Amino acid sequence: MKKQVKKAATLFLLACVTMMSCDTSKKESEKNMIEKVSFGKTTDGQETELYTLKNAAGMEVKISNFGGTVVSWTAPNNKGVYEDVILGCDSVAGYNKGVPYFGALIGRYGNRIANGKFTLEGKEYTLAQNNGVNALHGGLKGFDKVLWTATPIEGEEPALKLTYTAKDGEEGYPGNLSVEVVYTLQKNNALKIDYKATTDKTTIINLTNHTYFNLNGNLDSDILDHEVTLNADKFLPVDKTLIPTGELKPVTGNVFDFLKSKKISAGINDTTDTQIKAGGGYDHCWVLTDSSKTLKPAATVYEPKSGRVLEVFTTEPAIQFYTGNFLNGTIKGKNGIIYKHRSGLCLETQHYPDSPNKPAFPSTVLKPNETYQTTTVYKFSAK
Ligand code: BGC
Repeated sequence: MKKQVKKAATLFLLACVTMMSCDTSKKESEKNMIEKVSFGKTTDGQETELYTLKNAAGMEVKISNFGGTVVSWTAPNNKGVYEDVILGCDSVAGYNKGVPYFGALIGRYGNRIANGKFTLEGKEYTLAQNNGVNALHGGLKGFDKVLWTATPIEGEEPALKLTYTAKDGEEGYPGNLSVEVVYTLQKNNALKIDYKATTDKTTIINLTNHTYFNLNGNLDSDILDHEVTLNADKFLPVDKTLIPTGELKPVTGNVFDFLKSKKISAGINDTTDTQIKAGGGYDHCWVLTDSSKTLKPAATVYEPKSGRVLEVFTTEPAIQFYTGNFLNGTIKGKNGIIYKHRSGLCLETQHYPDSPNKPAFPSTVLKPNETYQTTTVYKFSAK
């Protein structure tokens, strides 16, 4: 009798363990399910969506098909606490009011083109002058303001595939351009962005992502204490309108030297430096020392209070390091937080600004039968 009770108890226990393990594995797979909710309507009444990518480690990245925008992104501090580390808005209504490209995909041409003009195969093209006399970030309705077609790809490393076809002549650029961007949330708390594009007419292209990071976890703070390393031995000085002069200037001996980790506050207010003056802080393109098209470390950011570390890897030749100098406390973001001056920093991996007008810069021309392909990875950890 005793034996039978023991056997029954063992069987019961076994069943419980099996049920429990089934239950856990179900929860695991649920964790990686991509959730989709409404994100509100665009100014012309189109419905937008917000997708949540989660990994088993606990990272959550929310991305909208509106502008391919990364809306929120949680990363662990050195105590394992996940907090949102990027600027953004609660719904598309916030973006409709006009924000400086928070988290958005940028195209067809990232950063500035002088006077909104360039010549390609003997023909002059005119773009909207949406930044003083210059064209900036793809025009009046660049890739940051269009609706992308989203395809969620579930799995251990969930991904969101976004596609968009820019028409021949859209925003003044030649060629029907088919673009595909895949955001993949990796197991190791990295977000990989794969960009791909083809055209049916010779065109120019420079795609990037414009996320504003604040590793503090408190978005109501500035980024001046963040410590930055840029694996770049040269940068591109700019004129008063932030167009590169064409010179590639060594960083050694000036405030643009981030070859060794340095607090942003160390040089950002050095207005004796004419370049800091021109940008109102850092708003320049650094030329990576390693010019190869392999995926290589480009930048590291460390925030001492939280211990968070962000590493950036890219196949691109350059990185625009922008310290949120134009943020002025007029934008209300997520959870009602007002984004103050320099409350976010951008690390926009890219080709050089104004390349279409600077033959000595690496080419940004894309021809039919060629495929534009780049990758950038943003990886978080803590120490
Ligand atoms: C540019 C800045 C600009 C910012 C937001 C950056 O990529 O370099 O000058 O203000 O984007 O528009």
